[in-house]
Amino acid sequence: MNELRLTAPISWLDGIDVKTGKIIQQDHPQKGESLAGKIVYVPHSIGSTVGAYTFFALKKYGVAPIKIVLEEPDSITISAELSGIPVEIKGAKKVELKDENIREEFKRYLEKEASISEAEGFIKVRSVHISGVSYATIGDTGKEWLKNMEDEVKLKVAATTNPLGMDLYRWKEMGIPENFARGQVDIVESLIKMGAIPSFTCTPYLTGNLPHYGEHVSWGESSAVSFINSVIGAKSNREGGTKTIIAAATGYTPLYGKHLDRNREPTIMVEVEGNLSRLVDYYALGYLIGKEYPSSVPLYEGLKKLHIPELKALAAAGAASGSIEIFHIPKITPNPFKRPSKSIKVNLKDLKATLDELSTFSGGPDLIVIGCPHLSLGEFKRIASLMDGRITTIKFWLYTSRAILSQIEKSSLINLIRRFGAEVWADTCMVVSPLEEMGIRKVTTNSTKAAKYLKTLRGMDVEVLSLEEIIERYSVPA
Ligand code: F3S
Repeated sequence: MNELRLTAPISWLDGIDVKTGKIIQQDHPQKGESLAGKIVYVPHSIGSTVGAYTFFALKKYGVAPIKIVLEEPDSITISAELSGIPVEIKGAKKVELKDENIREEFKRYLEKEASISEAEGFIKVRSVHISGVSYATIGDTGKEWLKNMEDEVKLKVAATTNPLGMDLYRWKEMGIPENFARGQVDIVESLIKMGAIPSFTCTPYLTGNLPHYGEHVSWGESSAVSFINSVIGAKSNREGGTKTIIAAATGYTPLYGKHLDRNREPTIMVEVEGNLSRLVDYYALGYLIGKEYPSSVPLYEGLKKLHIPELKALAAAGAASGSIEIFHIPKITPNPFKRPSKSIKVNLKDLKATLDELSTFSGGPDLIVIGCPHLSLGEFKRIASLMDGRITTIKFWLYTSRAILSQIEKSSLINLIRRFGAEVWADTCMVVSPLEEMGIRKVTTNSTKAAKYLKTLRGMDVEVLSLEEIIERYSVPA
């Protein structure tokens, strides 16, 4: 039998070459092996929820596995079923969804996910966040999947949407090629026809889609899932992009994983030594723990005075290098917890080493990108104060949601930012827009999540520095 056993988790979005079916994930023990035509054994996935669209492309190029056997339930990998790749897990039992008003294909998918995940039945979800809406990440195969459904599928649950591959109004100014813009607009039209909310942000919890404590939801976008589970106390698994459409169209998700309190308990205590004074330290901490303990539930000790920027950095980074869906911080996050027996220590030296390891160059970027995840109003205030009285020497781009952009445009912040020479884009981000097609090769950022995907998805050289270092190094007094 032609089999391939993966001995480490896989990142479907950037760990596979969809044209050859070969594993390209850095440091993966099976790097260079092909999935094509094999029964592939997978522990579980890590990284982006948009990886769910990879299976359509593997099928299109004729290099898909003939079957996937999972070791742990994982919504992103189970999405392979939608492209006709059977997914199995040992000892799965049938779990039935009793609702006659659901499209047959979606019902079959949800029952399969429930069975593979040993779910305790199904629950209704109050909101959905759809990931995988950029033409740069889902391509023509994803676009066609959405197009085929646009007239028949109506979303039943409020569903916000993740960033696109371009600013919807100013894509020409960004330098986006015309054919890319056409593909992106088709995706937007399909989503709107189905009833999705055109929020196009990865921080929907800052702009209106705010679940309450204990509420069951079904969200894609791994950074947002980790944020709402940890910081708000909502309950969501890290859903694959295709699954978010199914959850929104049916209103259901299987009851397993992080919907159950027993799976939200800490599995490792992380004692943080030293004072984490910069935002980039939290990006480094989340990234280090996600990389070393990919499917853990960390309990962070020793962190004080955290605000939204630090919490979303920690959430985004741990879900990018690993698959962390929830973390705890005593007196800051609201979920109850018991202390785990296993503990590790992390100090400032470890964090510096994590940042140094990610960087592939030093000095002289083509572009500076800030806003992964999308910038909050508070972050704009901090950035504008650092920029005040200075002028950038490098092209400097900031990313946020359209809702936050309209707030800063009504304040004096926008003048400070423009005087510095920076540009603010909405609806998109550095990772899901085609920077390589705009002639960019070397990028500086403060986000470890952006750094990881800029390297693996966009083929960029990256430099990771703190915001303070970036502004100090790449601007001059006005
Ligand atoms: Fe958001 Fe793009 Fe980062 S979607 S979390 S800004 S990779």
